[in-house]
Amino acid sequence: MDEAPRQVHLRSGDTVWIRPVRSTDASELQRAFALMSDKSQYQRFLTGTPRLTDSQAAYFSQVDHVDHEAYVALSPKDETHIIGVARFIRYPTAPDDAELAITVADSWHNRGLATVLVRELGGRARDVGVKRFRAEMMADNEAVLRLLRSAGLTGETVTGHMASGYIELATTE
Ligand SMILES: CC(C)(COP(=O)(O)OP(=O)(O)OC[C@H]1O[C@@H](n2cnc3c(N)ncnc32)[C@H](O)[C@@H]1OP(=O)(O)O)[C@@H](O)C(=O)NCCC(=O)NCCS
Repeated sequence: MDEAPRQVHLRSGDTVWIRPVRSTDASELQRAFALMSDKSQYQRFLTGTPRLTDSQAAYFSQVDHVDHEAYVALSPKDETHIIGVARFIRYPTAPDDAELAITVADSWHNRGLATVLVRELGGRARDVGVKRFRAEMMADNEAVLRLLRSAGLTGETVTGHMASGYIELATTE
């Protein structure tokens, strides 16, 4: 699926491009990940992950757009640069549900980019029959908790350092 990028406006006033990830994005995903702070990398993968390996980058870019989808945001200054990714991966044993993960480049934090990415990804997920996003994050990750609460996070549970919850897609718009 080589859907053309669409312009979206952020609450900061910035305009960025958004499109589904492409198989050719693997090396750019690696470059963008390498630029993230240690804290952001840890918050995304919940482990110390110094670099995206070639096989991880292939997995994250070669998606089927039905059971695994990702939307990438591209810099307004350079459309080859990925500045944010929102992804869902459907659970094989619970196909109404998909795991949600989001990453935004540190220099783009708090401008409304993740909010737009989650909204766009949610629309796509509904179109392909996903009914619920499940999310797991560090319990002290205030940014993602605020983001997901605004998107309708419910069933919040905290176990040790981790929090989890879900978003019912049918009721978020
Ligand atoms: C979590 C993350 C994706 C948010 O991206 P973002 O583009 O900065 O988010 P937005 O600008 O759309 O803001 C979303 C909400 O978070 C809040 N927020 C953003 N940065 C914040 C911060 N540093 N501290 C507290 N709240 C913050 C915003 O005020 C907004 O709240 P609202 O919905 O109540 O208005 C980003 O911080 C990130 O990539 N973190 C590292 C990876 C990660 O933690 N991923 C989540 C685990 S899967």
